[in-house]
Amino acid sequence: MRFFVFLFAVVVFGDESFITIKEYGEAIYKRYEKLSCVDCHGQNAEGKTLAYYERKRKLEAIVAPKIRNLTSEELKNGLRKHSFGPSYYLSDAEIEALAAYLANP
Ligand code: HEC
Repeated sequence: MRFFVFLFAVVVFGDESFITIKEYGEAIYKRYEKLSCVDCHGQNAEGKTLAYYERKRKLEAIVAPKIRNLTSEELKNGLRKHSFGPSYYLSDAEIEALAAYLANP
């Protein structure tokens, strides 16, 4: 599978006329598996409040934060810390494509 992803990345990034790195990142952001980043983090990665709940008589919110303009490293660490969001197992090439897209979605 890793090998396939690597091959895919080479094919994708090798020929600009097929799909750009930004378009590849957009595909991951919006169409990755059944629950995509866009579903929680918003159309333009601006962040979104997902739900409210009451705790000790106070209203608390579950927020998917704004994730625009993060470096690949910040994206990787954020995904590793996901407690409410799913654990995605993205390759470095996929993270880089995501960062390229999220710099200016
Ligand atoms: C089910 C909703 C959900 C989905 C889907 C989701 N996230 Fe999240 N994400 C969250 C929430 C909620 C947080 C806040 C931390 C936590 O509780 O997990 C978060 C935190 C993050 C952070 C850390 C941001 C920071 O400033 O600390 C990053 C980066 C991130 N998500 C990236 C992604 C990417 C990239 C995807 C898609 C591959 C994704 N998330 C999909 C809900 C989601």
